[in-house]
Amino acid sequence: MITCSAPGKVYLFGEHAVVYGESAICCAIELRTKVSVEKSDEIIIESVLGRTGLDHDNHPYVSYVIEKMRQFTDIQGVHIVIESQLPVGSGLGSSAAVTVASIQALNHLYECELSLEDIAKTGHEIERMVQGNASPTDTYVSTMGGVVMIPQRKKLDLINCPIVVGNTHKFSSTKELVGNVAKLRSDFPSVVEPILSNIGQMSILAERLVAEGDYETIGKLMNINQGLLDAIGVGSAELSSLVYAARGSGAISAKITGAGGGGCMVALARENNAQDIAKAIEDTGGEAIITKNTAEGVRLE
Ligand code: MEV
Repeated sequence: MITCSAPGKVYLFGEHAVVYGESAICCAIELRTKVSVEKSDEIIIESVLGRTGLDHDNHPYVSYVIEKMRQFTDIQGVHIVIESQLPVGSGLGSSAAVTVASIQALNHLYECELSLEDIAKTGHEIERMVQGNASPTDTYVSTMGGVVMIPQRKKLDLINCPIVVGNTHKFSSTKELVGNVAKLRSDFPSVVEPILSNIGQMSILAERLVAEGDYETIGKLMNINQGLLDAIGVGSAELSSLVYAARGSGAISAKITGAGGGGCMVALARENNAQDIAKAIEDTGGEAIITKNTAEGVRLE
């Protein structure tokens, strides 16, 4: 039996804009998805979603991983068990983490010798199969860990302040939200394209700020990014409530992370106030998770 795990992520900047080639900065977090694999007589995929065979409705990512890995090796039967600390469809990169951890686990089990770059690339192909227009961000940061700038694939310094995630527990479909933004962009190109480009500019400015550890200025830009995400229609009342609760309790910054619509928001905290921010999020009806940036991407457990 081989077990691999891969981290989830939060976006400091750039969700949605990155789909159009703008820069984004993403940060791997300590919440992970674990995938265990062993050879078997048949294909079995087990998770909180149930026990299935190859099943593109219930286990789309892992089913496509098995099919894709058949390009590199002869997979007949395999038993795959998924355990995740990442809520599904919440903007924390649960689909990328399960995809990347599954590829790496099968890579080890069948000795395919895929490199980390191969894993990130294959993971991105699978996200595109399931989601349509997916950017390489989630799969890249889940594979490599740390803080990465996309599309440059550049590793930045680690973020050293506490990170508080607030989950609205409202499911959102990345595919649908990406489609809504595409429609808005095609209806109003002269309005929406500059917004996406301004979001990209924040990542460019923030690269130096990350190196300097200037979280106060990063936070000001993250708050502007939040306003622009609202402008392109990916906010929600629940997300805004959590964002304002976090800011009101002393967060450096608070914004949506991921596709929006529901899912999660992320706040940067000061050393002494992560608990206060978490409490404010919980008092406003969200579920708070205090976490931090991790340098470790996909790993063998
Ligand atoms: C989803 O986590 C982030 C989006 O930018 C989509 C993508 O990058 O594939 C909304």
